Order: sequence, then structure tokens, then C-alpha cells
Amino acid sequence: MPSFYNCNCFITHNIYIKELDRHFKFLDSLQFFKDYGELLSSRGYADSTKRKHLLQQIIEEVERRKHLDEDAVERTKYLQQHYNPLDTSIFNLQDGFLDPSFIKLVNAAKSLNLDKTVRLLDVISEEKKLYGFPVINEAFCDQLLTELDHYQKSPLPKGRPNSMNRYGVLLDELGFHDNFSKILRTKYLDPLANILFPEWRGNELDSHKVFTVGYKIDDDLELGYHFDNSEVTLNICLGKSFEGGELYFGDLRTVPIMESTCTIVPHKKGYGIFHRGQQLHGALPISKGERHNIILWMRSSSVRNKLCPMCNSSPVLSPSSGYGDGFTAAENNCVKMCNVT
Ligand SMILES: [Fe+2]
Ligand SMILES: [Zn+2]
Repeated sequence: MPSFYNCNCFITHNIYIKELDRHFKFLDSLQFFKDYGELLSSRGYADSTKRKHLLQQIIEEVERRKHLDEDAVERTKYLQQHYNPLDTSIFNLQDGFLDPSFIKLVNAAKSLNLDKTVRLLDVISEEKKLYGFPVINEAFCDQLLTELDHYQKSPLPKGRPNSMNRYGVLLDELGFHDNFSKILRTKYLDPLANILFPEWRGNELDSHKVFTVGYKIDDDLELGYHFDNSEVTLNICLGKSFEGGELYFGDLRTVPIMESTCTIVPHKKGYGIFHRGQQLHGALPISKGERHNIILWMRSSSVRNKLCPMCNSSPVLSPSSGYGDGFTAAENNCVKMCNVT
């Protein structure tokens, strides 16, 4: 496996603040208030106490990000030693967990038959390249939710899925890596992306990040409009029972927001929505029950090495453990290396 890197913008860009439902760039407080002073005043953050509190949240998030890698390595090791699964068999992906139609779909993609592949899936929006298909069967959804609930109720350490979601499980850290998510990416989803999103898949989807997100009355209800740190995303609904919470999709992040219209997509148990990571999207509030989704962010180093989607520039690399944010330092890349202190 090649070495993977982060882009240095991870600690300066896209710092998400929930109470404002907005991402910020943060280099230092001078830049921050110069860039956002007017906006903050218009959003009711004119006085210094409120501004100080906001600054504190940003600094805490930056600190969390600076230690994210080493914290993840430590947590993964600790979980390997101390987590007692309810059912060890579910950590090894088997065809029996999958919907038979998903296997047919992947086989059509592997034979490079685009027409047949498209016939076997739901084209939610041709223009937006939004596709849906059953992925896993209901029995496996229930088994996985029971396992995740067991972990959530344990006193073991837990990381949070990303800065926008507070509730969920980092599946790779819990042990769903080599024999589960990696197989799902390489054996099933990379061939599908090859035929559906060739320009985003590049040479290969060669790394990923996988986590669950949970929405529940009294916890997180919805998810603001955003794009993913991925080239291709699969979002699979695990249940439980819920009402509302439809996903909505606009255009690619490069299209001015005013010009795009939204496509609303209801979610259902076992079903996956396959989309380009840079397609802006969000989740409407759930009105009843709770919903859990698996989110698989797949990255192609051959695509992102040219342009980091998070800072929209040529990436400045810093070393990482594991997959990092999916950048590589291949010899003929003209990527820059930052001086890591
Ligand atoms: Fe997303
Ligand atoms: Zn970047």
C-alpha cells in the first residue's frame, strides 16, 4: 500500500460551527474577524463575549484536528484489544449480507456493460448522476445496528464521525476495515464507479473513510448543505424506523448555488445512494424515530492529487497514518510537501 497523506488545509479550512451551520477558514483570530466580522455581526455575534465563545469553539476544533491521526491510531489499537463483539462473523463481508440484485449490478459493471448496469439501478437524476440501488439485506442491517448499539453502550473510547455529525461510529476503528469496507470498495464499488463516474474514479478508488451517522429526535435531526471529502460517496440506510429525513441534492460545488435546483430523495432500509462527493447535499430533519446510515467516502489519489477538494488548490501534503485524506506523493506528481514541525 502506498503512503497516504493529508492536505495541510485540514487544520485551517472548512472548520464547521454547528450553531451557525457554516464552515470557516481559520489562520488566526486577526484573519478570522477580518474575513467574517461583518457576517458575524449580521448573525447576532456583535458583542465580544459571543465572539470569544465562537473563537474558543474554532480553536478547540483545530486542536481536535491536529491530534486526530494519533488519537485514531491509539483508539484503534485499544479497541482491537478490548472490544468484545457480539458477533464476530459480521466483520467479514460476505455475499450473504448483500442484496442479490446488488451482486448482479456489480457483475454488469465489471463486464463494462453500461446499458445493462444502468438498467439494473434506479437513475434518480440523470443530470446529477444520482443513482440508487439495494445494497445490503434487512437482516444484516439489523445485525449491524445491534452490534453498533453494543459498542455505543460500552465504556470504550469513541471518535466522532466528522465535524458535522456528532452521533455515529467510525467503522474502520471498530474493526470493519480489511475484511469489510476495503472489500466493499475494491471488489464492488470501484467497478461501479469505473462505469458510472469514470472522471472521478480516475485510475482507481484507492482509499476511503467509513462511518455511520445517526439522527434521532433530541440528538442531531438534520445535516446542513455540504459536499463530502471524497470523489465518490455511497450512503446506505440501515433503518431503524423513522419519518422524514429525506436527502436533498443540488449541483456540484463549482456551480453557483442560486443556479441549482434540489432533488429530494427519500431513504429506505438497505438502500444505497451513490453520488459524486462534490455534489452538494444535505439531510432534511427527521420528524419521528431514528435513522442510521453507513457513509463510505471513497477517494482517488489520481484525481485529488491534482486538486484538493477542501481548499480547491493543489494539495500541500502532510504525513498521516493509514489512508489520511487519500493523497499520495507519487514521483511524477507536482504536489508540494509542507514542512511538518
Ligand atoms: Fe455528505
Ligand atoms: Zn487542501
